[in-house]
Amino acid sequence: MDSILIRGGNPLRGRIDISGAKNAALPLMAATLLTDETVTLSNVPRLMDIQTMAQLLAEFGCSAEDRGDGVWDLTTADVTGTLAPYDVVRKMRASVLVLGPLLARCREATVSLPGGCAIGTRPVNLHIQGLKEMGAEIEIEGGYIHATAPGGLKGATIAIPTVSVGATENLLMAAALASGDTVLENAAREPEIGDLIDLLTAMGATISGRGTDTLKITGAAKLHGTAHRVIADRIETGTYAVAAAITGGDIMLAGANHEIVEAALAPLRQSGASVDLLDDGIRVRRDGAGILGVDVMTEPYPGFPTDMQAQIMALMAMSHGAAMITETIFENRFMHVPELGRMGADITVHGASALVRGVRRLKGAPVMATDLRASVSLVLAGLAAEGETQVNRVYHLDRGYERLEEKLGACGADIERVKG
Ligand code: EPZ
Repeated sequence: MDSILIRGGNPLRGRIDISGAKNAALPLMAATLLTDETVTLSNVPRLMDIQTMAQLLAEFGCSAEDRGDGVWDLTTADVTGTLAPYDVVRKMRASVLVLGPLLARCREATVSLPGGCAIGTRPVNLHIQGLKEMGAEIEIEGGYIHATAPGGLKGATIAIPTVSVGATENLLMAAALASGDTVLENAAREPEIGDLIDLLTAMGATISGRGTDTLKITGAAKLHGTAHRVIADRIETGTYAVAAAITGGDIMLAGANHEIVEAALAPLRQSGASVDLLDDGIRVRRDGAGILGVDVMTEPYPGFPTDMQAQIMALMAMSHGAAMITETIFENRFMHVPELGRMGADITVHGASALVRGVRRLKGAPVMATDLRASVSLVLAGLAAEGETQVNRVYHLDRGYERLEEKLGACGADIERVKG
């Protein structure tokens, strides 16, 4: 299995082009099932998860053509199957996002129940409950969600009990082809949801409330093809912003979107890094000044994103002071803590909070992690650590960071992939 080898200590300087957002592209790809016409997506990142979604869509008769340069043509002229098999869903939980569109278009869908994963139990009860409120009949049997809507889905007012990005996305897509009006209360407001609303609107759906927690969708009898550009990845932006800060470097994050990364970058500013919003992106730098400790709590958007928690913890591990980092979204998202500990970090976990006492230096070590963001936090720590860090289980990184070594290497990181 490949690993990534980093010799730390170089301040990173240069420019990184921010890719399209994985967590926007995946639901957008699922949404293309709602029409028999071609949807062209551009700025799609080149990632393992995108390949997995394309492979899943092919199960339903979708021709997903990668035209190169991040442009994909997705056409599902006829739906030839409605089964999302365990073998694909177990590789990627976002596979469950095909449930809403398949059910809306075909009145039936069978989707493997995603299991728990490294960061928590991650049930899909809210997706199922919402679809039931739209008239779906759903049974769980043999590890599969069997859903039917013999008379078609019907608009409903659904108060989603907990903020959920995935449930909001599934229900939005289902409502776009349901009969009548659907109101989603307590909807998630993540920018990736705004991007999905923009695509659905371009496909002919009528949706109001974008950016708020109450969305109203008027179902259409038919949606049509369109072309849409995926938004910039705010988590990739935040991750490389930390790379600049943790190494005392200066990186221009080209194409980064100011508005949607604000929450992710706020603690970075408080820690003493300079964050300049420029016309063509965001410049992040830290001169000789030490990193200040900043308390951080993850929250649904517009709060600080859980997908940046591990990265900010790596930064805080080298702060002059202490930081309390509290995770409120997932119950088990501290797998990076013992690994950062192996590099010399001083972190104690108490329930949902981690007390990080800054240390003067981190030291390279062989490490590994069981999820994407935890893995990248180890890369960040490795960039700042003395000596050599070997990050194993690189396939996690390949799921969510496009050309990671290339992008960091271009800014002066001593980083290479070792084929294993
Ligand atoms: C999305 O996951 C992202 N994935 C995650 O990105 C991200 O961490 C998460 O949102 C939170 O921002 C994609 O967009 C593909 P949720 P999702 O439903 O939709 C609970 C990454 O590293 N919940 O908002 O699965 C759930 O257990 C990742 O790129 C229920 O209880 O997250 C969690 O505690 C990983 N029942 C909370 O809600 C449900 O039916 C929020 O989860 C659904 C969710």
